[in-house]
Amino acid sequence: MTGHLYVTRLLTDDAMAAVAALGVPIVVGREEPPTAEELLRGVAGAVAVVSTLTDRVDDAVLAAAGPQLRVVANVAVGYDNVDVAAARARGVVVTNTPGVLDGATADLTMGLVLAAARRIAEGDRFLRTGAPWVWGPRMLTGLDLSAGATLGVVGYGRIGRAVARRARAFDLHVLATPTRGALSAAERDAVEFRELPELLAASDVVTLHCPLTPQTHHLVDDAALARMRPTALLVNTARGTIVDTDALVRALEQGRLAGAALDVFEDEPHVDPRLLALPQVVLTPHLGSAGDRTRSAMCGLAVRNVAAVLAGHSPLTPVV
Ligand code: GLV
Repeated sequence: MTGHLYVTRLLTDDAMAAVAALGVPIVVGREEPPTAEELLRGVAGAVAVVSTLTDRVDDAVLAAAGPQLRVVANVAVGYDNVDVAAARARGVVVTNTPGVLDGATADLTMGLVLAAARRIAEGDRFLRTGAPWVWGPRMLTGLDLSAGATLGVVGYGRIGRAVARRARAFDLHVLATPTRGALSAAERDAVEFRELPELLAASDVVTLHCPLTPQTHHLVDDAALARMRPTALLVNTARGTIVDTDALVRALEQGRLAGAALDVFEDEPHVDPRLLALPQVVLTPHLGSAGDRTRSAMCGLAVRNVAAVLAGHSPLTPVV
């Protein structure tokens, strides 16, 4: 086998050690994403690429790699950054990292649900102003989750189900969009299924857990937001482009939606300044899977996928 393994970003230490043990020449990027030119240079002549969600692996990148490329192992469960059809046409296997980040992403989601509902980030920012304050019956009150609030889970896959489990422990009533995936009896009983329009109308908090596909691009648009309650909150830990930011800002500015908590953004890493200006919006920098162990597991799984393909075996987690 001739060709190198191109790792576009520095992975966790244990994964970098696993990369070194593969016994193939390695080209490793930096902590920061490669520029477009660096990406093209790095892939040229590679047999395998470990990419991250910040790398756009399109047909031009696959072409620049050359015909010896066998696998693109994306360090993420989402793979909207990879042109899977183009890869398939070129005989390149694409893998992702499902399963190992469900708990971490669900934890962060619950953190954002709580932060938006109970105005935690707003309270933190307020204290840091140094303004005088004293406890008051009307001070910074928010949505009581445990007083019969309803959470709407859009996308009842692995992460959506992990969110629903946590939500039930907070005494939330949980709705979910119908799924074709196989469910255990407990997973079926944990939620009530509602089509999206009804779920949006019936939820106090709506949380997004669907993949970004042509079908879910701007799924939350003006019409969807108009279905939501003016007191409702929107949480997005999935992909920024599932939400039409212009529509979201309009709804928030006009008081047609009470608040939002966003971990992902359209045109990431750019954060729309109109969102930054809204106190009822909680913002985090794509931290969904950012647990120490979770990131090790994701990077490790990507490296194991590369090892499997280079050894002539089936990858552990090919994208479907
Ligand atoms: C993170 O966003 C992922 O897709 O794993």
